[in-house]
Amino acid sequence: LPIALAAAIIGYLFGSIPFGLILTRAAGLGDVRSIGSGNIGATNVLRTGNRMLAAATLLLDALKASAAAWVVGYFLGEEAAIIAGFFAFIGHLFPVWIGFKGGKGVATYIGTLLGVAPIMVVLFAAVWLAVAFTTRYSSLSALVAMLVIPVALWILGNEKVAAVMAIMTLISYWKHKANISRLMGGTESKIGAKG
Ligand code: G3P
Repeated sequence: LPIALAAAIIGYLFGSIPFGLILTRAAGLGDVRSIGSGNIGATNVLRTGNRMLAAATLLLDALKASAAAWVVGYFLGEEAAIIAGFFAFIGHLFPVWIGFKGGKGVATYIGTLLGVAPIMVVLFAAVWLAVAFTTRYSSLSALVAMLVIPVALWILGNEKVAAVMAIMTLISYWKHKANISRLMGGTESKIGAKG
């Protein structure tokens, strides 16, 4: 248990760094939470019009979870790495530093995947890009990709990681509830739109 607890705390500390907020503030773009969807993620950072910053947000929000899994995995083993990756995701969604109002977890989901089942990132990217190119919805692309990943992991026999990713998918779906109702109402903003 002490190992699991250490993994969870380290994971949370990595995950709770709100890079989207930090980068947009550092760039003098104000508070990203006051524009677009109000989210701190890369999709909303893109609504500032700064693509480099959006890409950096995606990369850093992803890599913080991978880093947590890699560091914890190196010292405490494979199961601890999964716990760290999971809690990095939780840290991103519920960061204590900004009133527990974090992001929706798509980049961090990819980062956890990179840490614990790296080959699956290719599948995530392929599904995300396929849906994004056809629909231009960032949220829908992520929602579909996050459905495919646990199923694929389960089919490949990686049941433990499949279960953890499935829980993350459920939590992220809940965080996307406003996006889901906008998608159903036809009012979700498309990639590149200022929304
Ligand atoms: O990465 C989150 C994405 O799925 C939706 O972001 O800002 O459009 O709510 P946003």
